[in-house]
This record gives sequence, C-alpha cells and structure tokens, in this order.
Amino acid sequence: MSAHLVAPSLLAANFGHLDADLQLVNDSTADWLHVDIMDGRFVPNISFGFPVLEAVQKACKKPLDVHLMIVEPEKYIEAFAKAGANVITVHYEACTHLHRCIQQIKATGAKAGVALNPHTPIELLEDILEDLDLVLLMSVNPGFGGQKFIYQTLPKIERLKTRLIERNLSPYIEIDGGVGLQNAEALLKAGANVLVAGNAVFADPNPIDMIARLKNIGEEVWKF
Ligand code: DX5
Ligand code: ZN
Repeated sequence: MSAHLVAPSLLAANFGHLDADLQLVNDSTADWLHVDIMDGRFVPNISFGFPVLEAVQKACKKPLDVHLMIVEPEKYIEAFAKAGANVITVHYEACTHLHRCIQQIKATGAKAGVALNPHTPIELLEDILEDLDLVLLMSVNPGFGGQKFIYQTLPKIERLKTRLIERNLSPYIEIDGGVGLQNAEALLKAGANVLVAGNAVFADPNPIDMIARLKNIGEEVWKF
C-alpha cells in the first residue's frame, strides 16, 4: 500500500464533459478529488460555486478536498460542508481569526486544513499546528492551474516535517501547484503525503494511468 494520497484537481478537468472526467476519477486509484474555489478577490480568478460543487458531489465517489481561495471563508464553511466537502482548507492569509475558523470547520465534521502561499513561512502556524488535520503548501501562487513549480517549496516541506516530528503531530502535508512525475518523488522524500495534480493528470493522454503512476511513485521511497 502506498503511504501517500493523490488528489487530481478538478480545475484542470474538461468542464464541457465533467461527467466523463468524474467517472475517470471514480475509476482511478485517486484518493481525493481536489476542488478549487476562487472568488476573484483573494486570487485573480473565479472558478465555480455551490451548484457545480453539489453536482460534482453527486457524481464523484471520492472524498472532496475543497481548497477555499476566498476572502472571509468563515461565511461559507457550513455551506461548503453541506455541499459535500470532506476536507475544507482555508488560507492563512485570508483568515483574521484562524483558530475560530478551524473550529468552525471541525464542527461541521469535515477535516480542517490551512493553506500557505509560497511566501508565507510555516513558522506562522506554530500556535495552530495541533488543531490542524492538514497543511497545504502552495507550490505556485494560487489562482491558476498549469504554473511552474516553485522550488523553494522543497526545503519548506522539510522544515514543516521536521517540526511536526519534533511536536509529535501528524497532519497531512499537501502540495498544490506544478506537481507531476518530475517532482513527485522529491516531494514525498521531503515529507509530503498528499499530492495535488491538475494538468499533470488531465492534460495527459491517459489520466487514469497518470494517477496510478503518481500513486505508485512513492512505493520505492517508502519501502526502505
Ligand atoms: C492553483 C490551484 C491548484 C491547481 C493546480 O491555484 O490551487 O489546485 O488546480 O494545478 P496544476 O497541478 O496544473 O498546477
Ligand atoms: Zn488547490
């Protein structure tokens, strides 16, 4: 069994044929479906909202990993949980009252995550770490799929992993942006255990096979 999770990102799917792409995810070894919600304010792009998420939830058999790139996420936490989110991740940079927001997510029964932009140091999570189910490190600036991986993410993962070990904590470490076969092994070795992949999966001629390859890549890393 592979020790890490793979979460294809819906943002890179074909919105004209969402059913087909969701079926593909259902038929694959993907663990979660990553769902990016963008509001045109926190990030310079708008993706989709509740009606789409509800439709996705009906068609998708995998847990929904909802990444909120929105300001004032506390206003919508319950609505996202109701629409089917299993994991809800808010941005550190978007939350004035992060602790309250995390408790709000947990009260819905969803797993609670915090995302950090590439420039935000992991040390800022020191006083909230023990409350988190997941830390999402952005490896591109949020807002768009298909961007180049920012290499400074690797030492950042190592720093986070080291700190988690020191504190005997084990939230998921999820990496989002520019992830693919070219860097998956390095990310896992550094300590990541959830890989989000948008274009690497959906722009591939064989997305099911690509998901399986991303899923298997860690085998060698974790075996020894
Ligand atoms: C970017 C999103 C990502 C995006 C990743 O703001 O948070 O989840 O879908 O896409 P790729 O894997 O193509 O970089
Ligand atoms: Zn995302």
